[in-house]
Amino acid sequence: MGKLLEVERLQIAFRTDQGDVISVDEVSFDIKAGETVAIVGESGCGKSVTSLSLIGLLGKRGYVRQGESRFNGFSLTKASSAELRKLRGNEISMIFQDSMTSLNPVIPIGEQLEEPIRLHLHLSRQQAKAVALDMLRKVGIPRPEVISKEYPQTLSGGMRQRVMIAIALVCKPKLLIADEPTTALDVTIQAQIVQLMKQLQASDGTSILLVTHDLGVVAEMADKVVVMYAGQVVETADVFTLFRAPQHPYTQGLMRSIPHLNRDSSKRMDAIAGTVPSLQHMPTGCRYHPRCPHAVGRCREQRPALQNVGNEHLVRCWLPSESVPPTVKDSLAGHISGGAV
Ligand SMILES: Nc1ncnc2c1ncn2[C@@H]1O[C@H](COP(=O)(O)OP(=O)(O)OP(=O)(O)O)[C@@H](O)[C@H]1O
Ligand SMILES: [Mg+2]
Repeated sequence: MGKLLEVERLQIAFRTDQGDVISVDEVSFDIKAGETVAIVGESGCGKSVTSLSLIGLLGKRGYVRQGESRFNGFSLTKASSAELRKLRGNEISMIFQDSMTSLNPVIPIGEQLEEPIRLHLHLSRQQAKAVALDMLRKVGIPRPEVISKEYPQTLSGGMRQRVMIAIALVCKPKLLIADEPTTALDVTIQAQIVQLMKQLQASDGTSILLVTHDLGVVAEMADKVVVMYAGQVVETADVFTLFRAPQHPYTQGLMRSIPHLNRDSSKRMDAIAGTVPSLQHMPTGCRYHPRCPHAVGRCREQRPALQNVGNEHLVRCWLPSESVPPTVKDSLAGHISGGAV
């Protein structure tokens, strides 16, 4: 399978009053046609910045300082804003973290859906309307003729997210970037939205870059996982390897923090102790060492590079090891094959 998206040693910075800060550093991964790649990591690790950079939406202060991303061989990093505008909503589309702020409150949702159809598919108003209604039906919106005349704020969160998915997928993009597509929703609706994305992906062969901190959604949807910590990739592997044999202590910590059924629910979840470092005060050596239970002298002094520990499994650690307790592994195995969230 050919590579649809290639991200190569991407470094992204923001201009601030205190000088430039680097928020994403040397991030590399790729996505093949039809594949789903998930980026996971705690808040502030650079998931949204990485994905926004792909479609040129970093804002005035953000810029790609080094590295490159390519879509079907075409450099997104070097593309002009006009070229990126043409790709956005057409070949690459994005579901944003917050559906309330990304839908326009003063335009009925039907019209918001017709806009990309007319722009990218060059259809008449009448034809666009028919395609829009059909798409709303596909994403499970009841009575689309009525609902399409409604404004976003009159819809529930789940319905708004369905509308966002409809807008993102109506032009059959080759790549869908979904930034926390289910986080704002309750669990039943989450499961429905995950199902919906999987269905639409299966019928249209869309590749998905899924940004989330929900490992349940990752287990359900992803083929490959990229784990980020403090702006860097710390581990990447196919989803089975990552869940069954995570090697970076940070990934192992994330795995332990998943609540699961066969553990005493009165006990607290094993969240990772400590906090994410600020961009201005990155630790020396390995960025994770202040929180790492296994850190030794070398971890404090030298920056580890990503190393291949087998079969495209990369780990940025001086002491990679499989140290997840067997009980956690067993329950994760159930988690991933049973899909329980
Ligand atoms: N416009 C900006 N100016 C300066 N720094 C920024 C800007 N946007 C993001 N950052 C910084 O870049 C880092 C990465 O942010 P990003 O939004 O990508 O995190 P995230 O992984 O998506 O987190 P979350 O899970 O909370 O969505 C953060 O430290 C953030 O403060
Ligand atoms: Mg984010």
